[in-house]
Amino acid sequence: MPATQVDRHYGNPGIAERILAALGAANGADAAVTPETLAPIDHFHGRGVAATGELVALLDPQPGEHILDIGSGIGGPARWIAARCGCRVTGVDLTPEFCAAAETLNAATGMVDRVTILEGSALDLPLFDASFDRAIRRMSR
Ligand SMILES: C[S@@+](CC[C@H](N)C(=O)[O-])C[C@H]1O[C@@H](n2cnc3c(N)ncnc32)[C@H](O)[C@@H]1O
Repeated sequence: MPATQVDRHYGNPGIAERILAALGAANGADAAVTPETLAPIDHFHGRGVAATGELVALLDPQPGEHILDIGSGIGGPARWIAARCGCRVTGVDLTPEFCAAAETLNAATGMVDRVTILEGSALDLPLFDASFDRAIRRMSR
């Protein structure tokens, strides 16, 4: 799918703000915002966090490794993997609004030092070769 069509499909302003408002309404305004509490909302694929868990079991990330998440969306899987496995995760996504939401949610969960988001395309990754230990890709076709 061309980049403009991907953004038109997914792009939507204020995503993180609406998620945080919904989480506050559900859990209470003072409730912790963590990769776990966000998990019902921010794993943007079929079967949500359960499918992420199965993928992580196959990927088997090790503490201290640097994982690449291609098509990282609003960053739910990236934060969850970083928190669960003790790794750093860099996510790359084509949709600017998703990257902005991911960065806001990284800050809300206190994970900016563990999860980095880059806006870019899987077809021309803004990264050096061989700079990651493992990679996942979960994008629309
Ligand atoms: C269904 S969402 C999945 C998001 C995330 N992987 C998750 O599971 O929560 C698909 C994502 O792929 C991204 N995407 C689609 N084509 C892409 C491309 N060529 N390069 C980078 N990201 C792309 C979209 O912007 C969208 O965020």
